[in-house]
This record gives sequence, structure tokens and C-alpha cells, in this order.
Amino acid sequence: MKKLLFGALVLSFMSACNSDNISNQEEISQESGASANLTASKRSCPSDHIREKALQKDPALRARFEANELQAENFTRDLQMGKVLPDGTVEIPVVFNVIYNTSGQNVSDARIAEQIAVLNADYGATNSDINKIPAAFQSSAAGNVKISFKLVATNRKQSSKTAWRSDLEEMKKSTTGGINATDPTKNMNIWVVNSILDEDNQPGTLGYAYYPESAGLWYDGLVIGYQYIGKTGASAPFNLGRTVTHEVGHYLNLPHLWGSSNTGCQTDYSNDTPTSPGPNYGTPSYPLNRVCGGVSRSQMFMNYMDYVDDKAMFMFSANQKTRMQAVVAAAGPRAGLR
Ligand code: ARG
Ligand code: ZN
Ligand code: CA
Repeated sequence: MKKLLFGALVLSFMSACNSDNISNQEEISQESGASANLTASKRSCPSDHIREKALQKDPALRARFEANELQAENFTRDLQMGKVLPDGTVEIPVVFNVIYNTSGQNVSDARIAEQIAVLNADYGATNSDINKIPAAFQSSAAGNVKISFKLVATNRKQSSKTAWRSDLEEMKKSTTGGINATDPTKNMNIWVVNSILDEDNQPGTLGYAYYPESAGLWYDGLVIGYQYIGKTGASAPFNLGRTVTHEVGHYLNLPHLWGSSNTGCQTDYSNDTPTSPGPNYGTPSYPLNRVCGGVSRSQMFMNYMDYVDDKAMFMFSANQKTRMQAVVAAAGPRAGLR
């Protein structure tokens, strides 16, 4: 019996040597000498030996082993890079790409820092106006979304262009006068431009963003008018940095409250945001009832995914938080940001 085991061990040692680097063979071969008393210095743990034989026999098992090692490696790297903070918050690296004509459009580092601070306050539920959430909506408020933002680079470029069409995305390629995205699989890119026109050359857009099905593509990210970045010198009533808060919501898979269609009364896939027939503007007074399908509902117009003024929006819902967390989860479409 002992002899047989010894033979098997030697065999496995030899074959393991020309396959891969599963270790511990040395221990096994040393330990296989004569007496095999279970003394403190000469014990065996057959786990590795059993594993090695199984991995050699079964390619599916080996594939699972390799996937596990890769996952452990990625997890360790993410922790080292500080992207998943100890409390589970996912920290998104942000790259600003500022394309300006006049120097006034070249938003300052200070304003960009203000914008990052606004994002961290709004997504962390530490915004100073969070206490304005009406009592009836407090139980459906998100609280801390556990997604934070860290500026990793700011790129700047002067351009003779004075307007950029949202359907052409010229601001996102150096060959068309723009700035290439910095690895959009790993960073949230924000392009800041002097003005945004629609496909009919009409103004009226503060900003826009791509949903997670575009994750990692060359045009993935946000485009924002320079007037709406940060607070200092920004353009009222959109001067509290909430255009970016709103667009990041889209980037993290939140539709408008009325759904992804101008007809309104469509689902936004969050059951704690009341169905809405369309956008609200300005600073509505609460409560505001509007009708969908013959049912009148109190509108959550203070949600970041409405169109009200910056000072009139100050909350995400709990279901919206869950949707955003799903996007940055380890298996989510934007896991590369982790
Ligand atoms: N895409 C929307 C727009 O251009 C953004 C609305 C942001 N709302 C705000 N209060 N900043 O109108
Ligand atoms: Zn929007
Ligand atoms: Ca809803």
C-alpha cells in the first residue's frame, strides 16, 4: 500500500514538472521516504497532489481553476488601486477632456475640482439640500449610492470650432479636432465643449451621455457645455454642477423619470419613482400631481433624473441606487471602472 502510494507520488511529480507551476511537489517527494510516522516535521497534506491529478485529467476543472486565479488577481489589483474602497464604495476614475475656443471656455482646475466634489456629495447623499426631500419620499430615498469619483487626468486642447454636433462626436477624436478618450473601459471620460448642437444644428442641450451598452466604445462618456461645469462662474440656474450628476445617472443606466421616450408615462425601471408624463422645469412646488393612464401621481420632480433647475433636484431613489450598483458590480457592464 505504502509502495503504491509512493509510486503514484513520484509519477505525479514527474508529470507535474512538465505541465505547469503547481507547487509543493518537492515537499511531497521528500516526505515520501521510509517511515512516514506522523511527526511534527514530516506530515503530508494531499490537497495539492489530488488537485494536480484532477487538473491534468479534466480541462474544464483546469479552466475553472485558472478563472479563479485570474479573479483573485484582479480583486487584489483593484484593492491596491483603491478603486473599491473598504466600505464597498466603487471609486470611478474620471478624465476631463476640455476643448475650448476662448480662454474663458477653458474651465479651471478649480471648477473641475468643484464638479468632482458635487458628484461625490450627490452620489454620497452628503449634499447640503438632502434634507429637502419631502417626507412622503424619504422612505424611497437612495441614501449613499456608494459610488464615488476621483479625478485622474485633465486634458486640454484649443480649437477654432465654436459648436459641436452631438450626433457627430467630433470632440472625441483627435483626427476631427477633438481629444481621444482615455481608455473608456477603465475611465469615465467627460468632454467639455463650448456649445452643443443637435442634428438640426439647434442649441438647447446642457449635456448628454451614453448608457452602459456603449461601455468602452470610443465615444463612451459624457459631453457637457463649459457653462455647466462646477459652480464658480457657471451659468444659473444650472450652476450647482447637477448637469453632470444627471448625465452620470444616464451613464450608470438611469433613464429619465418618464422613460426613454418623449411620449412619457413609460417605465424608468425603478418602481419607487412615480410614473411621469414628461419633464418638469424650473423650480416646481411640492406636491405636484400629474396623470399617466388616468392615474394621478405625486411627482418626484426633485429627482436628479428630471429636468428641473439645479437647486430643485437633490435625490436619487433606492431603486435607482440598485440599478447603478448593478452597472459597476464585478459582473456588471461597467466593471472595468472598478
Ligand atoms: N440633458 C439634459 C439637458 O440638456 C440635462 C438636464 C440637467 N438638468 C439640470 N438641472 N442641470 O437639458
Ligand atoms: Zn437626461
Ligand atoms: Ca418609476
